[in-house]
Amino acid sequence: MISVLLAVVIQQLGVTGLRVEYLTNPLGIDTPRPRLSWRITSTERNTAQAAYEVRVSRNETLVWDSGRIASDSSVFVTYGGPALASRTRYVWRVRVWDTKGRVSPWSAAAFWETGLMQPSDWTAAWVGTAPSPTDSVGGPSPLFRRAFRLTGAVASARIYATSLGLYELYLNGQRVGDGLFTPGWTSYNRRLQYQTYDVTALLRSGPNAVGAELGDGWYRGQLGFNGQRNVYGKRLGLLLQLEIRYQDGRTERIVPDSAWRTSTGPILASDIYGGETYDARQERIGWANAGYDDRTWAPVQTLESPPPKSRLLAPESPPVRRVVELRPVGIRRSASGETIFDLGQNFTGWARLKVNGTAGTVVTLRFAEVLDRRGDLYTENLRRANQTDRYTLRGGGPETYEPHFTFHGFRYVGVRGLPAAADSSTITGIVVSSDLQETGAFETSDSLLNQLQHNIVWGQRSNFLDVPTDCPQRDERLGWTGDAQVFAPTAAYNFDVSGFFSKWLGDVAADQDVSGSLPWVIPDVLHADSANASGTAGWSDAAVIVPWTMYVAYGDRGLLARQYPSMRAWVEFERRRAGADLLWQPGWQFGDWLALHSDDPSYPGATTNTDFIATAYFAHSADLVAQAARALGKGDDAERYEALFRDVQAAFNREFVSATGRVGENTQTAYALAIAFHLLPDSLIRAAADRLAADVQARGVHLTTGFLGTPQLLPVLGGTGHLDVAYGLLMQRSYPSWLYPITRGATTMWERWDGIRPDSSFEDAGMNSFNHYAFGAVGAWMYSAIGGIQLDPQVPGGKAVWITPQPGGGLTFARAALETLYGRVMSSWKLDGPRFVLDVTVPPNTSANVLLWGTTAQAVRGAEGARDIQQRDRDVLIVVGSGNYQFTVSRSN
Ligand code: BGC
Repeated sequence: MISVLLAVVIQQLGVTGLRVEYLTNPLGIDTPRPRLSWRITSTERNTAQAAYEVRVSRNETLVWDSGRIASDSSVFVTYGGPALASRTRYVWRVRVWDTKGRVSPWSAAAFWETGLMQPSDWTAAWVGTAPSPTDSVGGPSPLFRRAFRLTGAVASARIYATSLGLYELYLNGQRVGDGLFTPGWTSYNRRLQYQTYDVTALLRSGPNAVGAELGDGWYRGQLGFNGQRNVYGKRLGLLLQLEIRYQDGRTERIVPDSAWRTSTGPILASDIYGGETYDARQERIGWANAGYDDRTWAPVQTLESPPPKSRLLAPESPPVRRVVELRPVGIRRSASGETIFDLGQNFTGWARLKVNGTAGTVVTLRFAEVLDRRGDLYTENLRRANQTDRYTLRGGGPETYEPHFTFHGFRYVGVRGLPAAADSSTITGIVVSSDLQETGAFETSDSLLNQLQHNIVWGQRSNFLDVPTDCPQRDERLGWTGDAQVFAPTAAYNFDVSGFFSKWLGDVAADQDVSGSLPWVIPDVLHADSANASGTAGWSDAAVIVPWTMYVAYGDRGLLARQYPSMRAWVEFERRRAGADLLWQPGWQFGDWLALHSDDPSYPGATTNTDFIATAYFAHSADLVAQAARALGKGDDAERYEALFRDVQAAFNREFVSATGRVGENTQTAYALAIAFHLLPDSLIRAAADRLAADVQARGVHLTTGFLGTPQLLPVLGGTGHLDVAYGLLMQRSYPSWLYPITRGATTMWERWDGIRPDSSFEDAGMNSFNHYAFGAVGAWMYSAIGGIQLDPQVPGGKAVWITPQPGGGLTFARAALETLYGRVMSSWKLDGPRFVLDVTVPPNTSANVLLWGTTAQAVRGAEGARDIQQRDRDVLIVVGSGNYQFTVSRSN
């Protein structure tokens, strides 16, 4: 015992947090050469990895020992052993040496398990129900079941499953897994995910039964704002393989065959936009159990032209799950007789209903984000999305209901038909989202700013539902590329979005046209309807910007290399569109979408020309492709795209920039894009930035920017000597501003600056979402400038970070933290009288450049353990290795 304790005390170097690709202990991956990541723990400062050793075993037999590899890489280290077999668990450990010669103990064991790596591993056939007239209009959800007998004790069992439409699985009456909306949403015509489940504990020797229920989902339900359905097909289908290994070594496989039966059940209709109609009297009690009598059920049919097995792939992202439950904060009766529950927070999910009443009673639940002036649900902004659930009671005791294949965007639930008086247990808000690890924390001394951070996080939680969507409530909920592009940097602070975006980028590449053009939404469900649904500046540039953003955030060169052809193809498309003069004179463009519009002559709106925006984005994407080419060691390409960037830059300046630094139409967005994208000559940046600041001031410190200008506004002001103006905009409470919606009770980001106008009227119901994350793109500036944590594109993934807090705005403290792949980075400052105190945490195997503004090296305390300290003009740069530091700056002068 004593020796164990001693070992713990003395042993200061350790390895933890083992990940494979983007997941911890993943079950069912199909990457031929998975990349391994780990975190180093150390009680000493300046810990850096000098070497590592990875050992991988299979059935306790070593299959790969990397040997001692001299390297500081601790993330995305490629497995280098023999080819992986399907359906096999690989157990791995790692140990590291640090630069001081210490060696860590072997890490605790972690694993990955392969899924079905080859199409030929799938022996099951796709099954469905007999074709029915309701197939194309949405009908009852089909149930599928099969009873089977196991002839011995089970050592291990897996289900590999996917569907056309959504599925939920059951084994012996128990729900399999806790993922929702499986198999997830991908470009189904090209990529279809399957899931792997460990079902060992759900099976027993003797009789068993497996059941599946299917929903229309994205596959054939309503999708898109034109009322279309059946976007991917008309018939639902199930593909399922249950593989069993007995303790005596025998194996068995249960796949759909003629013994599978199908019927309908209690879900009479279910639609992502429309909601669910559920009649509990139609429940088939025990339908997924062995003893159930299914003689009246129909045999399943084999699908005639099912998707090829080569289209199947394992998930890269965590599944959608129930992530939070919300209790009502208010219950009242509306004038129209509805009982309205206020869940206190706008979100995505549904309501769990608890009722007790007579059979046949129908309870109707409607959902809305806001109330109108009369206190009724405001649903006009939902357009064609009815989001209404109807539950018919089975009777005979307390009943609990949650829908299955739908989700709603809401804060308020309006309920009719309750058999008894409501109380706070009648309705529970169930928040659903891709179950991403929260990696960011941000807090300041200002409560409205903290609420803004809260609203950004909830906007993300609401709209990261397997795909980055624009909104969760109206008849869209689509993977709008422009929204995703502007928000991605903020998203990567708040949550670990590595696997989430890697999956989505797979669909970006898959849905990209051969011309390089990219649809408006990914997965592309509008294309069929609109010849124009592609090739749009600021939207399609997502093909370049999102991979680059992920590279900066996670340092995953593999992903960058995978996306590189898609990135380049988009820039080549832009080049062709622009033609010889390199000015992209657009066809259809969204431009600076939802920029301020105003009829007030004293406060004019601001329209930035779409050809200006298109050419600016063209230059920016060329620049990022050049940087990506450099990062990937593609020297020739880097030079080519650097030259292209310079040429577009020159064309842009000739066309849009005056000799005195007037840019475009003199809008805030014009200056923000031109400066942020490095389009102006150095000699004009100051003048242009001053014009931008002057416009903001002239409007009483207000903004005019839309989706594209907004993310760049504060970084550009803050980076050009106008930090006070940047803070002024951020802390502005009057319309238009980020904090204005908060003064109106917002709990998520609004789509429009004036979703609810100062006179309390609503913006145009045709487009007025209260849960759109795009304007939340300001979050990246809050983390990087206020909190001070900034990633370094040259040393990406947090291997080196910048700590550059810039106090202002009357704040007396700010704290930001970011969980990178290496560990937790923290930057926390406070103003303590004349002293500025900064606490910094730098994780092992990384370094930080701490930049203290407007001071001298002599005025700084706490830099003793630093690797380097330099005066840089009026600032002090301190380079530190891992560990905790406290710097104090006395501002007595
Ligand atoms: C969506 C967006 C999207 C836009 C394109 C809207 O209807 O909700 O957020 O980017 O269309 O302009």
